[in-house]
Amino acid sequence: MTHTDTPKGNNKFYAIIPAAGKGARMGAPVNKQFLELDGVPILARTLAAFENAAIIDGIVIAGNKEEVPLLKDMCIQYGISKLIGIVEGGQTRLQSVTNALEFLTGFRVKQDLAEDVNEDPGTRIEDECEVYVLIHDGARPFVTEAVIEACAQGAALHGACICGVPVKDTIKVVDRNGLIETTVPRDGLWAVQTPQAFSLLLISAMHRKAASLNRDFTDDAQVAEYFGLDVYMTRGEYSNIKITTPDDLLHGELIVNQGKNQ
Ligand code: CTP
Ligand code: MG
Repeated sequence: MTHTDTPKGNNKFYAIIPAAGKGARMGAPVNKQFLELDGVPILARTLAAFENAAIIDGIVIAGNKEEVPLLKDMCIQYGISKLIGIVEGGQTRLQSVTNALEFLTGFRVKQDLAEDVNEDPGTRIEDECEVYVLIHDGARPFVTEAVIEACAQGAALHGACICGVPVKDTIKVVDRNGLIETTVPRDGLWAVQTPQAFSLLLISAMHRKAASLNRDFTDDAQVAEYFGLDVYMTRGEYSNIKITTPDDLLHGELIVNQGKNQ
């Protein structure tokens, strides 16, 4: 059975989209996610991917306080009906995600209470649902439904599943003087992407702890790994790039045009 054939069951899957960066490396006058690719803002493309993914039940965005009105307008303009909230981001991506996880946890508690009131006694165990969250960069607009589905089902199976692609380049370790120290064997090396999907209960507890550690975590999976959770890798797509520098905008235009010709 492939991931896409796996039934959703009673499980719920939410997306958290951290979008509260500054886009410093892009050097544009606006937060890079508002830049357009073929007339559609990068972030609107990202949100539409989750809106159109059947497995996703709701979307939470972490945004900069002053950009919240822009984000609301964007969701209306592009028909993002699955939006359940926009939270204020933090100084770091980790803090932005942590804020969104807190919000989502509160939202789920309210949902559960409402469902408890409406349900027949005795159906509780059968109806019990597991809640999963897919954390995905606002600046990664080309994620496909197949990758979203694979991460979601991987998390339902293992508790934690992220996507990435096998590294194609030869990787070398170079010292400060430019001298090559060693060539890293490419076998087993993967470049990590998002979505990164987890059980909501597990990852929110871990992010809460991580926030108090004053330690640099490069991605959400590293937080989970740090606390000893087994995290699985599923194959993403090479086109699932993050828009970071002006070069990536050119690459992004190419991907958009390729999509049109298919
Ligand atoms: N992000 C966030 N909160 C932060 C920092 C980043 O929500 N405090 C989001 C960004 O908006 C982006 C994603 O995390 O969608 C990935 O981060 P990155 O590509 O580094 O974006 P920026 O931080 O905006 O870019 P830069 O590092 O060049 O300033
Ligand atoms: Mg950044």
